[in-house]
Formats: sequence, structure tokens, C-alpha cells
Amino acid sequence: MPSIEELITARERAARAAEPAIPADLPVIACERLVRIFSVAGVETQALQGLDLVLRRGELTALIGASGSGKTTLLNILAALDLPTGGRAVVAGHDLLTMRARDRLAYRRSTVGFLWQQTSRNLLGHLTVAENIELPMRLARSRRTDRKARTSELVDLLGIADCRDQLAAGLSGGQQQRAAIGVALANRPAILLVDEPTGELDAESADDVFGALRAVNDHDRVTVLVVTHDETVSEQVSRTLAIRDGRISTEVLRRTGTDEQGQAAHFAQEYSVLDAAGRLQLPADFIEALALKDRVRLTLEPDHVRVLPDRDDSVGRDA
Ligand SMILES: Nc1ncnc2c1ncn2[C@@H]1O[C@H](COP(=O)(O)OP(=O)(O)OP(=O)(O)O)[C@@H](O)[C@H]1O
Ligand SMILES: [Mg+2]
Repeated sequence: MPSIEELITARERAARAAEPAIPADLPVIACERLVRIFSVAGVETQALQGLDLVLRRGELTALIGASGSGKTTLLNILAALDLPTGGRAVVAGHDLLTMRARDRLAYRRSTVGFLWQQTSRNLLGHLTVAENIELPMRLARSRRTDRKARTSELVDLLGIADCRDQLAAGLSGGQQQRAAIGVALANRPAILLVDEPTGELDAESADDVFGALRAVNDHDRVTVLVVTHDETVSEQVSRTLAIRDGRISTEVLRRTGTDEQGQAAHFAQEYSVLDAAGRLQLPADFIEALALKDRVRLTLEPDHVRVLPDRDDSVGRDA
């Protein structure tokens, strides 16, 4: 006779297996024209203004934007804690706008893991690192041997094996963030959402946290989305998106290759993002350099589009 624990574990496994399987080439996160409007005492704030976002399985992407640009709003929607006012968001095969309350709970428990902006929300200070990481697995009723094995695997990957039996409250900020990544990934979610992970850390601890994120991304093939206002983070990841006024404005892709002398080199290419409606944001420094304002003229050239300041006062004169 199987024990009750084994039966429950089998049921959990079956429930997980029944989750929609995502083919490898489909986006694991797909947002289309996402809008979120907050209304407080008659004042409306458009936190997201038609945001398009596609993340493929296993990508490690940073989303960088100033305070108030809509980063946490987006993560709350992707975590199924908030609903958009309009648009579409499909994550790991779940349509977030139509998902039922019961499915939202299961989704938050097993499909997404998060690291919150308020660090106190991530760990229980009076428990050890290992106990913190085991907690979500206990709630999901994993077997003791599986819990122990997963905890050991995570503390090794995250570089915190030496403090696994220390109380979380006594750790350094960087160690706490790495332990929190362990908690978020305990139940092997497909997606890890990370809000401002290095805001309170020095440069060295921040490097350790990003090293840990790369390690788990590589090992678990978990799709990681990190949001931050820290522009230097783009050096830590291969793909960076910039968010401005609730929309993705630019994208930077980094790759390693060989330069003209045959030496290993890093290359970065910046792209502006063209949304589904054909809208484009010009970089702020381009706008400033040419004092662009109100309207510009576009001309189609054989292989590019020119954007010209509206200084032509001859318009209409020839007619
Ligand atoms: N619950 C809410 N009610 C009303 N307005 C809100 C709410 N949450 C966010 N906002 C507003 O939406 C905009 C985006 O906020 P959000 O918290 O997403 O920004 P952020 O990019 O995470 O900023 P920060 O870097 O400071 O964390 C802001 O103008 C904010 O004041
Ligand atoms: Mg925020």
C-alpha cells in the first residue's frame, strides 16, 4: 500500500504533467499590447502603455527602466497577482486574463518563482538557509529525500553551501539574495521573476548574485526575467530590454565572437523596438542631439528609413 505522502506526491506529479506542454520554439512569455491603468481618487496613471514582450525558454533577460516606468507592475501581472486593463499575456501556456482563481494559485506555486523588491518578503529570518529552501517543497508535499537532494543542489549552484545551516537573518545581503533565489526555484518553476535584486548591494555582492542567476539559468534551463533601474546590469546578461513609459523602447543583444585580429571579443548591438502597430521610440539622446520635437519627417530609402527634423519651411510654398 502506498503511504498518504506518496499518494499526494503522485497526485501533484499528475497535476503538473497535465499542465500544457510548451514546444521548445514557442515563447514562454508572450505579452501583446499590455495596458495597466491605475485609478486612485479619480486620478489615472497609465503604468503600462501597450507593452509587447516575448521571452523564449531558457533566456536570461534584463529589463531596465527608471523608477515608475512600470517594471513592478509588469512583474505583478506575470506573477498572476494583478490583472492588466487590456492586452494579452500568455505565460507557459496559461492565458493570464482568463485564468480561474484556483489555477492562479497552482500557477504561483509551480509555474513561476519570484524574488521580491522588498527583500524581507523573500526569506524567514528565524529559519536556516536550508529550512527556507525546503519550505516551498514541504508546502508542495515533496518527498523528504527529494527535498534534501534539491536543497543540496541549489546551495551548491548558488555558492552558499557554507552557510546552509545559518539563520537567514544573520547572512550578508548578497547571501540572502542567493538564498532567496533558492527558495524561488525550490519547486523547479519554468520562470523566475526577479525585481531589483541588487539595489541594496555593493558591486562585488551584486556580481555574485548575477553569477548565481546565470548558474541556475544554465542548470535548470529556467527562463529568467530580471527588472532593475541599474543600467550596468546589461553587462551581466546576453539580452537587455529598456522600458520607458510603460513600453519596451530598445533592446541590446550581446554575444561573444572573434574580432578582426582573431581575438575573443564581446559585441553589443542596440536595437529600437518596433511594436505590432509599427510604433517606434527614438533614443532620448538622439532626440536631444537634433532637438527633435512634435513631429519629424520620414523618408523611405532603398535599405533604410531616414528621420529628419521638421525644419523645412518650404512645405507648401511650391504649390
Ligand atoms: N497600486 C497602484 N496604485 C496606483 N498607482 C500605482 C500602483 N502601482 C503602481 N502605480 C503607478 O504606476 C507607475 C509604475 O509603477 P511601478 O511600481 O510599476 O514602477 P517601477 O518601474 O517598478 O518603479 P521602481 O523602480 O521605483 O520600483 C508609477 O507611476 C506608480 O506610481
Ligand atoms: Mg518597482
